[in-house]
Amino acid sequence: MLNDILNWRYATKKMDPSKAVSDEKLERILEAITLAPTSSGLQPFEVIVVKNPETRAQLRAAANDQAQVTDGSHLIVFAAWDNYTTERVDAVREQMETDRGMKNEGLTAYYENLKAFYFSRDERTNFDHAARQAYIAFGIALVAAAAEKVDATPMEGFDADRFDEILGLRERGLRSVVIMPIGYRDAGEDWLVNLKKVRRPRDEFVKLVA
Ligand SMILES: Cc1cc2nc3c(=O)[nH]c(=O)nc-3n(C[C@H](O)[C@H](O)[C@H](O)COP(=O)(O)O)c2cc1C
Repeated sequence: MLNDILNWRYATKKMDPSKAVSDEKLERILEAITLAPTSSGLQPFEVIVVKNPETRAQLRAAANDQAQVTDGSHLIVFAAWDNYTTERVDAVREQMETDRGMKNEGLTAYYENLKAFYFSRDERTNFDHAARQAYIAFGIALVAAAAEKVDATPMEGFDADRFDEILGLRERGLRSVVIMPIGYRDAGEDWLVNLKKVRRPRDEFVKLVA
């Protein structure tokens, strides 16, 4: 049951550096990320998988020295588009036309309207919107990892500017928004592993309008 998986996962604090996530498991997690829904299907972000230990050591220094960045076997970085552009939106529509084998006037009109709307907003608003799409995929990534019995730590505790520099993201029109190291818990060394999950009381958190 999904809730058993969600109870199994936790924001792992200590990972075992001797254990690596297999290519097969990584591939299924990436496929789940790819299947995340996004507004108008734009997928306005990239998913950067960093395996290289030297690069991850640099990134760890820019992530408050959080050990999971190097103790895990891979670091997944979600980097959102810095803005919407004609090129980016048109590429999605063209992909849709190719994959579905048809051109559609309604679809063209839809994306023309969407561009007019997005281009009327400032860059920051568009980036924030793109970042929210990345977070949906990030949530699915956390669940997908847990379904594979792979540990993960959701992380916002990093210096996005330094990440962008190390990974060369700005020149590609991207900005890192959230990161997720994956690996395997070191249960003997992790202070959090056996602590109860803490959540707000259900009746404060969920309101029923009957
Ligand atoms: C967006 C986001 C950012 C987070 N950033 C960090 C982080 O930088 N480092 C860390 O150890 N945990 C981080 N956490 C973990 C949360 O503290 C944790 O998910 C929360 O306390 C609930 O605990 P659980 O995930 O173990 O159920 C983050 C979680 C989320 C969702």
